[in-house]
Amino acid sequence: MDLAGKKIVLGLTGGVACYKAAMLSRDLGRAGASVQVVMTQAATQFITAVTMQALTGNTVYTDQWDARMENNMPHINLTRDADAVVIVPCSTDFISKLAHGACDDLLSTLCVARPAHVPLMVAPAMNVEMWQNPATQRNVRQLREDGIVLLGPDAGAQACGEMGEGRMLEPAQLLEEIVAAFQPKLLAGRRVLLTAGPTFEPIDPVRGITNLSSGKMGYAVARAAREAGAEVTLVSGPTALDAPYGVRRIDVQTAQQMHDAVMANVAGQDLFVAVAAVADWRVANASTQKLKKNGENDVPHLEFAQNPDILAGVAALPHRPYCVGFAAESENLEQYGAAKRVRKNIPLLVGNIGHQTFGRDDNALMLFDEQGHTSLPRADKQTLARQLVREIARRMAS
Ligand code: C5P
Repeated sequence: MDLAGKKIVLGLTGGVACYKAAMLSRDLGRAGASVQVVMTQAATQFITAVTMQALTGNTVYTDQWDARMENNMPHINLTRDADAVVIVPCSTDFISKLAHGACDDLLSTLCVARPAHVPLMVAPAMNVEMWQNPATQRNVRQLREDGIVLLGPDAGAQACGEMGEGRMLEPAQLLEEIVAAFQPKLLAGRRVLLTAGPTFEPIDPVRGITNLSSGKMGYAVARAAREAGAEVTLVSGPTALDAPYGVRRIDVQTAQQMHDAVMANVAGQDLFVAVAAVADWRVANASTQKLKKNGENDVPHLEFAQNPDILAGVAALPHRPYCVGFAAESENLEQYGAAKRVRKNIPLLVGNIGHQTFGRDDNALMLFDEQGHTSLPRADKQTLARQLVREIARRMAS
């Protein structure tokens, strides 16, 4: 679980987006965190403390003078063992309070009273004009200067019916940002390019050849790289997955398109990770019209042509990034993996242990480098991806 053992103070201020804070509180709990909710009076106009208590299983605090705390110092007690304070939603007024260090209710006092090592993250949620108002922007600059992390805001449809910047991030995006905040920034300032998913090679306008890759491993590595502080571009074949938050995704279908997208974006990259299950062959005589079945024994005659090897192409560039390849072998991984790394001319090759990795949520990896091979035991793909990023960052730094 991504937030196992973490204690998070979740502060709610006044805004329609409070209902999303309810969903986030549940998601944080499912990710292993214990969640302590604190609400401003304005927040209680939008959602009740009862709802938040039921969702988190913890008493909710709304008042600085709450007699339930024996020493009557909730602003101190609630933050001393916290791993992070997260304000969702964060109103215009609360941003202003934070910018000035105001302490006129429990939540604002608690933010000022928190120990310096406890990060404060805020998810602004407000009307576009309120967000763009010079006073708000001035306050936001102050927050950044003070080391407060801003999560969003996004742009889009707003509860008031207007459109624009100020819309709060979705709970799933906020969860990704909170998880990311706890990851070491091993790839800070690095640029990372990845491929993921299957490719789709058309036979005709409605049919094609593909494979069982779900894209889960590649997306997990992309997310882990971004969590580690990298600027990430993901060239993805067709998958059912959402792009990890903050990752630039370029959608492609065929191996040729994947190759072209990689080559167009490879300049200036520090790391290239080829996770995609790229089709080795495409149909050379693909039809521009849907093939018709004429009679009982009529079968189409497909001719194949070889696709470009994207990884080999990047590895052959004069100013190549650090290159990592993947291998899905059905047998003799130790032997084939080592040979494939040398043949592909790359410093690191990652083998999937067992060929039943496609579509699954877990995996086990074997890493081949110049020194030999090491194993990363079976775990969920996100955990493995974080371990892999650690291994890659260490090798890039040496
Ligand atoms: O040779 P093989 O297909 O087993 O190599 C797998 C590795 O090469 C993976 O990293 C895959 O993403 C990459 N690859 C590629 N372009 C291809 C075929 C494989 O980038 N056409």
